[in-house]
Order: sequence, then C-alpha cells, then structure tokens
Amino acid sequence: MLRIFIVKSPTATTSPNFPLKGIAGATGRLDVICRSIISAFKLKSGFRRNTVFYGVLCGPPQPPLTVVVDGRKATTIPLNEIEVARVIRDLIRAYSSGETHSYSGWSIYRWDLRKVINSILSSMRALLIYLKEDGENVEKVLNKINTYMRDYDSIVFVLGSHVDLDPDDEKILEEHNALRVSIGPYSYLSSHVITYVHYILDTLGKR
Ligand SMILES: C[S@@+](CC[C@H](N)C(=O)[O-])C[C@H]1O[C@@H](n2cnc3c(N)ncnc32)[C@H](O)[C@@H]1O
Repeated sequence: MLRIFIVKSPTATTSPNFPLKGIAGATGRLDVICRSIISAFKLKSGFRRNTVFYGVLCGPPQPPLTVVVDGRKATTIPLNEIEVARVIRDLIRAYSSGETHSYSGWSIYRWDLRKVINSILSSMRALLIYLKEDGENVEKVLNKINTYMRDYDSIVFVLGSHVDLDPDDEKILEEHNALRVSIGPYSYLSSHVITYVHYILDTLGKR
C-alpha cells in the first residue's frame, strides 16, 4: 500500500537563490518541507520505498511549484536538512532555466494543491485523509481505515506546514470527501505528524 504525504506551504520559496545556511529565515520556511521529507522517508538504513511526498511551495517569486519525491524511484534521499534543501534548490534552478536535473525519483511541476490531488485521484484509487487537530480521533478511525484499505491503492495524507491550510484548500478537500482526522490533542510539527502516521500504519492490525 502506497503512502502519500502532501504538505502545503503558503510561504516556502520558489526561488533557487537562497543560502543553504540559515534556511529557516531565508526561504519562507522551506525548512518545514525539508524536515517533512526526511520524516516521510527516514529509516535506520536506506529509506522508505512505499512512500511518495509532495511539497506544495507557494511563496514568491513563481508560485506554485510542487516538489515530488518518489521513494519507489529515488536513488538518493538525503537525511539532513541542508542536503534536502540543496536538492530542492537544484530542482527549482533547473525548472527556472528549463534545464534537466539528475535526481532520479525527484521532480518539480507547476502544480497547486488542487492539481496535485486531482493528479493522484485520477491515477489511482486513493483514500484521502486531511490531518487536522480538530478531526475525528485517529484511534476511532483506525478500524475504518483498515477496512477501507482493501479497496484502495494508496492512502493520501494532506497537512499544513508551519501554518494550517487555508479555507480554499479545505474546500478542495471537502469536495473530495476527505476524512478529517486528528492524531492527538495538541498541534504537532508537520514532520512529527508524518512520523506518527508512519508508526500507526506500520503497526496497523498489530497493536
Ligand atoms: C505546525 S501545524 C500548523 C500550525 C498549527 N495548527 C498552529 O496553530 O500553530 C502543522 C500541520 O500538522 C497537522 N497537525 C498538527 N497537529 C495535528 C494533530 N493533532 N492532528 C492532526 N494533524 C495535525 C495539521 O495539518 C497542521 O496544519
């Protein structure tokens, strides 16, 4: 079962001209996307092959751009923030200049959140989940998820970044009848939410 994470940042830069040191301040919080990528793929050795990550970058100067990391095809996924930022910088640079890049499994498109979701839903049977603090408790929907999964090719989780999704984004998710699910009583970092979701799926039916 393919696991898909979508993190949308309204501010993360779409320019390749940023310093790799101090990225949090200089990039409109692209660091949140970098950390989310690490959490989506990190394993003690190697990286998760059953996962695809979409980072929707909506900061200036050329929004939207979506960075896609496909664990089924990637040959390298750096596990430190600066190196992930370096790859994203190279992708944006290649996109901006119309050149090709050499990162297999990594790609970049002029896609917004709607286009990302439509593209996924038109290519596979996907169960769409909107992760939100005030959603239905995950423990309560686990059984539902377990049952539903037989009918789907993938499970797609949509999250905010350092700020929540805006009402227009939420409308898109409502249009697609996304399940609104909470993982706990507090507001956690996107990267931590992703780690916890992996744990839940890793232990589904075993707890
Ligand atoms: C750091 S939070 C966003 C800002 C945060 N809501 C605030 O008020 O400061 C990042 C995202 O992770 C997801 N998230 C955080 N805590 C969650 C929880 N308890 N349950 C489900 N999703 C959560 C949401 O999608 C949220 O937009």
